[in-house]
Amino acid sequence: MSEILSHTEAGVLTLTINRLEKKNSLTSAMYAQLAQGLDHASASSEVRVVVIQGHESIFSAGNDIADFLNGPAATSESPVFKFLRGISSFAKPLVAAVCGPAVGIGTTLLLHCDLVYAGDNAAFSLPFVNLGLCPEAASSLLLPMRMGYARAAEALLLGEPFTVETALEVGLVNRVVPPLEANALAQRQAHKLAAKPLSSLIETKRLMKQSLLSPVAQRMAEEGASFGRMLREPAAREAFAAFLEKRPPAFAQL
Ligand code: COA
Repeated sequence: MSEILSHTEAGVLTLTINRLEKKNSLTSAMYAQLAQGLDHASASSEVRVVVIQGHESIFSAGNDIADFLNGPAATSESPVFKFLRGISSFAKPLVAAVCGPAVGIGTTLLLHCDLVYAGDNAAFSLPFVNLGLCPEAASSLLLPMRMGYARAAEALLLGEPFTVETALEVGLVNRVVPPLEANALAQRQAHKLAAKPLSSLIETKRLMKQSLLSPVAQRMAEEGASFGRMLREPAAREAFAAFLEKRPPAFAQL
């Protein structure tokens, strides 16, 4: 079965992350499928709204760590960066349902969604520094804007997880419901959107986001260059190997 399930119904394209045995961590192939899904949604007159969801127990454990360790050098044409450019400039409404852990890009992709519905088991973490990396998805710009610098620094420098209550308070999520209801709620809201005039939705979203479009693209490119370089550096290599070997990383000399 595909690791990204895709289903269109009544104008709503739903992309479901479906790799439970690896906690819905995302491989290059999965980013490519997500990017294709967004491209298709942009071009197709049958799609008016996109929903991104995971499982009620886990949204996503972030990038696949084995892919980080063994994958080809990251360039601006890597599937992950194509996906991030796609989601950050997506013109139609984007809705997400998030339950359980949302790690790394599992949290940062939410910064680009218009509506986010969470299960009360959702937990957000951005362990980039703990992996010898730096933020991506323009989160170094958008997270301080959403949470304030102090909270963003705890999340991004210390890599401390934050709760769904915090996410609700700072406006990263719209509503918190029992995990088994989150995907259904996202669907209901998406179908409400799909029943509205698409041109009004697109224009309203464009107007709300236009002042950030260029700073986000610029920051994402800058982060991407650093991220790609840092993936090859000793701290990241040690962190990835430690994760896969289920041991703490030895950063003391790095
Ligand atoms: N990449 C690759 N494999 C991953 C993964 C990831 N990001 N996250 C989890 N997995 C794998 C584990 O290696 C394990 O595989 P195994 O059964 O072959 O040993 C399996 O998924 C289950 O993971 P496990 O850690 O045992 O589950 P858990 O319920 O105890 O914890 C998480 C879930 C998401 C909290 C934890 O897996 C985690 O922190 N993952 C890494 C997150 C991360 O650092 N992501 C990168 C962000 S940039």
